[in-house]
Amino acid sequence: MSQQITFIGGGNMASAMVAGLLEAGTSPSDLRIVEPGKARRLELQERFEVGTTVDLVEACRRASIIVLAVKPDVVPVVAKQIADAIVLEGKLVISIAAGTTTAVLEEILGELVAILRAMPNSPATFGLGATGFYANRHVSAAHLDQAMDILSSIGLSLRFPTETQLDAVTAVAGSGPAYFFLLMEEMVRAGQNLGLAAEDARRLTLQTALGAARMAADTELTFCELRQRVTSPGGTTHAAVSCLQQAGFGQIINEAMTRARDRAIEMGRTLA
Ligand SMILES: NC(=O)c1ccc[n+]([C@@H]2O[C@H](COP(=O)([O-])OP(=O)(O)OC[C@H]3O[C@@H](n4cnc5c(N)ncnc54)[C@H](OP(=O)(O)O)[C@@H]3O)[C@@H](O)[C@H]2O)c1
Repeated sequence: MSQQITFIGGGNMASAMVAGLLEAGTSPSDLRIVEPGKARRLELQERFEVGTTVDLVEACRRASIIVLAVKPDVVPVVAKQIADAIVLEGKLVISIAAGTTTAVLEEILGELVAILRAMPNSPATFGLGATGFYANRHVSAAHLDQAMDILSSIGLSLRFPTETQLDAVTAVAGSGPAYFFLLMEEMVRAGQNLGLAAEDARRLTLQTALGAARMAADTELTFCELRQRVTSPGGTTHAAVSCLQQAGFGQIINEAMTRARDRAIEMGRTLA
């Protein structure tokens, strides 16, 4: 049986999920987007041929799955509007809002409501996301299948048994793209210092990052084994990698990610 899915907020993330679901064969008639901006609504209608509306309550009443895809500060506002107007038991509510805990959502939506909190990352906007999610005790096996279909539409999706693990997901995947950007930024700078033109260094760095990611994705080898395979003893890579390790590269990454995790915890407390 097809499920009616209502997205609250028609921004970057909702668009990515709608695009992914349509590509995977979901019928446009099963999708609906609640979006206040008129121009944005028209854009979404034209691009996806799905129904759009400003009528939050009616769109949620018709849905079996509601996806909260608004900014975290808007979540409590729309959640209260929905909870005040309709019975949510039996429906699945998925929130992708950063930092908004299921405890906060349960307090507003009701303690018996099936709530799934997901933490996607920015590459999700073009289908290459890495998402971690936590489901409360009311989320059924059928709900989980439906949620997997929706979240897989924007990339890899993994379930975690405890909600606090989502703070670690934030440190690994949420903030992760920036770590790679920083590494690439520094590689370009170093390439220039070694005599390459900026554009050449940028193109070489980017292609190397893509190639390394593809190599890692296409093999059963661990990252460590891959690194050892491309590092001949006494060679150029060995010289560079030893330099990084002696300078405490591993400890720095560990400390940086611990700080990201701690900041995620702090931000969650502020939103609560
Ligand atoms: N983008 C990411 O990389 C990323 C990663 C992880 C998590 N997230 C989470 O995903 C959520 C959505 O992010 P996004 O990047 O898609 O944001 P976005 O592009 O700003 O989309 C939010 C949309 O919600 C609309 N909106 C505002 N108030 C509304 C209301 N009362 N009812 C219905 N719609 C309303 C906004 O319209 P107006 O523009 O007209 O206000 C906008 O179109 C956020 O909670 C964010 O924390 C995003």
